[in-house]
Amino acid sequence: MSLEFWNNRYDGEQYVYGEKPNDFLMEAVKQLPPSSSVLSIGEGEGRNAAFLAKRGHKVTAVDQSEVGLRKAQKLALSQGCSIETAVADLEDYQFGEHQWDAVVSIFCHTPNILRMSLYRSIKAGLKVGGIFIVEAYAPEQLARGTGGPKEIDNLVPLEELLTEFSDFEIVRAQATTRLIAEGHFHQGLSDVTQFIGRRK
Ligand SMILES: C[S@@+](CC[C@H](N)C(=O)[O-])C[C@H]1O[C@@H](n2cnc3c(N)ncnc32)[C@H](O)[C@@H]1O
Repeated sequence: MSLEFWNNRYDGEQYVYGEKPNDFLMEAVKQLPPSSSVLSIGEGEGRNAAFLAKRGHKVTAVDQSEVGLRKAQKLALSQGCSIETAVADLEDYQFGEHQWDAVVSIFCHTPNILRMSLYRSIKAGLKVGGIFIVEAYAPEQLARGTGGPKEIDNLVPLEELLTEFSDFEIVRAQATTRLIAEGHFHQGLSDVTQFIGRRK
């Protein structure tokens, strides 16, 4: 999806994926030590970044959409916390080396070719012991009309993460079907891939 698509989607007062954090992230956050430095990729309107910041983590939210990240800052402020935001295409974003205690990717769907290069950046960017937290729509989701990209190339099979992160400790990995209720665009029974891996 283009930058224009996302800026249009976020253009309005309403938070299109809601203001509450993602369910899987609410579980996964228990893996994080206090005051973790967290990079959230494809953060959009900030519901997950604000949740993490409220819990005392130092959060950087990156997204290509300036409109989305402006709302993210507003949401964090309204919840009495602060986040760093970076407007950038993930293709160009510098993840650094040994910098993050966690990288969070919640429904951040990109074409396979970019995803592969992001995996390399995430591996390098995580500290040893740092974790990669992912919830993404799985290829099976194409048959449903309940959210997510319409191109199979942008969907994330569990096997891909298990292969690409075979050098990580697998904390949690499952392909599952669950009921999602996140704002207007993620609604209903959905096929998702959930993954938590720790850099060794
Ligand atoms: C479905 S939304 C999810 C937003 C947020 N993670 C959430 O769960 O509420 C996907 C987000 O990924 C961002 N995104 C997709 N491809 C991107 C790229 N190449 N660079 C930066 N952001 C990207 C979009 O701008 C959009 O905000």
